[in-house]
Amino acid sequence: MKPRILVSREVFDETLAMLGEHFEVESNQADIRHSTDALAALLADKDGAVISTSDRIDASVLDRAPRLRVVANVGVGYNNIDVPACTAAGVMATNTPGVLTDSVADLTFGLVIATCRRLTEAEHYLRSGEWKGSFLKQMLGKDVHGATLGIVGMGRIGQTVAKRAIGFEMQVLYHNRTRLDAATEAECRAAYRAKDDLLREADIVVLLMPYTPETHHLIGARELALMKPSAVLVNVARGGIVDDAALVTALRNGTIWAAGLDVYENEPRLNPDLLTLKNVVLSPHIASASEPTRKAMANTAARNCIAALTTGSPPNLLNPDVKDRVRS
Ligand code: DGY
Repeated sequence: MKPRILVSREVFDETLAMLGEHFEVESNQADIRHSTDALAALLADKDGAVISTSDRIDASVLDRAPRLRVVANVGVGYNNIDVPACTAAGVMATNTPGVLTDSVADLTFGLVIATCRRLTEAEHYLRSGEWKGSFLKQMLGKDVHGATLGIVGMGRIGQTVAKRAIGFEMQVLYHNRTRLDAATEAECRAAYRAKDDLLREADIVVLLMPYTPETHHLIGARELALMKPSAVLVNVARGGIVDDAALVTALRNGTIWAAGLDVYENEPRLNPDLLTLKNVVLSPHIASASEPTRKAMANTAARNCIAALTTGSPPNLLNPDVKDRVRS
């Protein structure tokens, strides 16, 4: 009998076809968002799961899924998975690094430009019929070219954003848990700064680090107050890294000039005050959402699931310590 797996949210037909060659698949092409209890019930008789970053996998779910051997996340960020709990339970956890780097870097620049040049505010102005003709001081914004870009989180995506910035003749500063080696710094033309120094010096601050207990509210009232009143903050990493209530206050009071956000605390129920502000550009967690990239993410997760259940060695294993204790 084929192993049974759950695909928790809608995926591409080609992804389901790939999985169907190896498994008996229970899919969710209606894309219903499962509660944690519903997810646990669906996993009760499954050997594996291809899950979305909106699915929470913790000890309470794993306890109710005694046959589960792999959870394959469709996403590079995996703060939705309690990895130590997976290891303790003998369950492999995987993610999809690499395949979304360029698309997220592209959207990061999209938000940087949209925020600095007030693109969504300008479009609303035009659509509402307010535009009566061009005038010199219309929709004045900030230049992106030549600005100082501060990247907090200099992993794959941060480094790719830094390389995009070369074309805009920007000065690039970065902060990271671990300083990059000199060759990588030179390749990215990026200079290391302590976090507070970066916040003080940058014209545009971009957040690109994982969400962990250490990065919860990494940007709050204190950090926003360190930034220039003319500065722009862009978050394409994860909700929770920025204290959204503190950001609303900073945007209202002119502590910083504007923000571009793709991610929010308590998604999809974002802080309603954000919707009342003109100096914020908002997108619904779409940084990786180009068609080729979303296909590559889903198919990478499928390949991780297949490898986990057929060879026991998935390519993007997050908990290698699990290897000698995977459930049989
Ligand atoms: C990721 O891969 O982490 C993206 O944010 C999609 O959730």
